[in-house]
Amino acid sequence: MSDAVQTQSNPNAGFTPRVFSGIQPTGNLHLGNYLGALKRFADAQNKGIESIYCMVDLHAITVWQDPADLARATRELCAGFIAAGVDPEKSILFNQSQVPEHTQMAWIFNCVARMGWMQRMTQFKDKAGKNAQNASLGLFAYPALMAADILVYHATHVPVGEDQKQHLELTRDIAIKFNHDYGVDFFPITEPVIEGAATRVMSFRDGTKKMSKSDPSDMSRINLTDDADAIAKKIRKAKTDPEPLPDSIEGLEDRPEARNLVNIYAALADLTPEQVIAEHAGQQFGTFKPSLADLAVAKLAPISTEMSRLMQDQGEIDNILRRGSDRARNIATPILQKTYDIAGMIRS
Ligand code: TYM
Repeated sequence: MSDAVQTQSNPNAGFTPRVFSGIQPTGNLHLGNYLGALKRFADAQNKGIESIYCMVDLHAITVWQDPADLARATRELCAGFIAAGVDPEKSILFNQSQVPEHTQMAWIFNCVARMGWMQRMTQFKDKAGKNAQNASLGLFAYPALMAADILVYHATHVPVGEDQKQHLELTRDIAIKFNHDYGVDFFPITEPVIEGAATRVMSFRDGTKKMSKSDPSDMSRINLTDDADAIAKKIRKAKTDPEPLPDSIEGLEDRPEARNLVNIYAALADLTPEQVIAEHAGQQFGTFKPSLADLAVAKLAPISTEMSRLMQDQGEIDNILRRGSDRARNIATPILQKTYDIAGMIRS
């Protein structure tokens, strides 16, 4: 952003690598959340980097949430993290509202971020719709809380899907402006990690639209709670074009639905889209879709089964969230205190 000033040449020298990411507990975890986020979280954790994953319940209420639904969705999301391979012993898994340092840091960042920066956020424009005057103040300030989520841990890397790119640029701008205004090198300039074949999974009904939990058509997405039959049916019915798969990746240009299915196959099989094309060149969708459905069922159905099993023990999920919150606070408290010291807040 033009009004932020970059003051450092190697801004993250001296910061321990630490991964942070978050997901909103607003129900309907879908294939996009899995491939763009959850699966990659499990991969990052397994590389041995300290990883912190958050159910951002305070972000969720920037638009109205029924309280009982929110509590259920938060536990279900926790079950989803674990079922997708995030180990609550190796990683820190918690819900945002149990770590008050997020909102305390967010206030500081509300005073660093500029109105103009927030007004440019496309997610705010999309979510507020035509009646922006009626949107909550929280929805407007959403990206400052997101920056606080990340920077209160001095996180250096944030794995996300492509739709979060603009928010992460804002996080960097907030860190740069804070460091510049107070004359410190205190916050890292976080790297977005938007990698792999499926950073933008598209709708099964319209290959130009992102797969999303808010799409009114359930056929547009695979939910992580779908059983094997539903997964196979949605893939069979996914919109495609009449051409067979091309023999090179360039042949997928201008074929958004075909490209989406190839990308999904690649991400599920841990292959590149080029490798998928090499294996399936010339196939009709009548052949490719059943292969994709088999693969998706093999990878996703166990997640749905494990989520339902975990959901039966609500007490255990709450224990995991409490233990995760304690561990998260141990990291966040000293960073928040130092931030307050830098800003001149008296601690007596
Ligand atoms: P949320 O809850 O909308 O989505 C969670 C994650 O899923 C990714 N994602 C997708 N990836 C690929 N294809 C799709 N169709 C798709 N749909 C969603 C998102 O990119 C995201 O990685 N603002 C965030 C939550 C958040 C956060 C944070 C993230 C709050 N604080 C700090 C990172 C760091 C959001 O609304 O994600």
